[in-house]
Amino acid sequence: ASDIEGDLSTVLVTEAEIHAKLAEIARRIETDYAGKDVLLVGVLKGAIMVMADLARELRLHVETDWMAVSSYGAGTKSSGVVQIRKDLDSDLTDRHVLIVEDIIDSGLTLSWLLENFASRGAASIEVCALLRKPEAAKVEIECRYVGFDIPNEFVVGYGLDYAEKYRNLRDVGVLAPHVYS
Ligand code: PRP
Ligand code: MN
Ligand code: MG
Repeated sequence: ASDIEGDLSTVLVTEAEIHAKLAEIARRIETDYAGKDVLLVGVLKGAIMVMADLARELRLHVETDWMAVSSYGAGTKSSGVVQIRKDLDSDLTDRHVLIVEDIIDSGLTLSWLLENFASRGAASIEVCALLRKPEAAKVEIECRYVGFDIPNEFVVGYGLDYAEKYRNLRDVGVLAPHVYS
């Protein structure tokens, strides 16, 4: 229970790399949304760190809202069944919505969310995901802002959990198999 960093077998993306990448993405978002008000929608709970850091990088007026969905439960595999635990407070009508996610794994969560949002009358809907696992894709997601493509391994840290733990690691790393096998 003490040394959480010892539960990683490899660090994949460091805190410094994450911050540099979010700064790059923020510059693109500032250009793409110049003159528009953006609604950042963070997907709880994994997106908490990306949302906090990306939002503070942006020199734009943004509003923030949160949606809580979960498809993983306590396991390491997506169940494919997405549940809404908390809906948005905001009305999406005529809004420029930018969904902020920590990771696109199978793509099932975002595919479900995009479909759910499509009927809410937004002016635009785009996705920003810090991480993406191309080899794990079960559905293609159009993601305008991607931080890093990573191998198909179970990763934790910087918001990503295993059984609700490890979200507080600063880096993103591969969870050592001894932890969950
Ligand atoms: C994780 C992650 C993404 C989703 C990606 O969330 O934060 O939201 O899974 O996986 P997918 O592309 O295969 O759908 P999770 O359901 O574990 O909930 P959490 O954010 O509360 O950890
Ligand atoms: Mn999530
Ligand atoms: Mg999770």
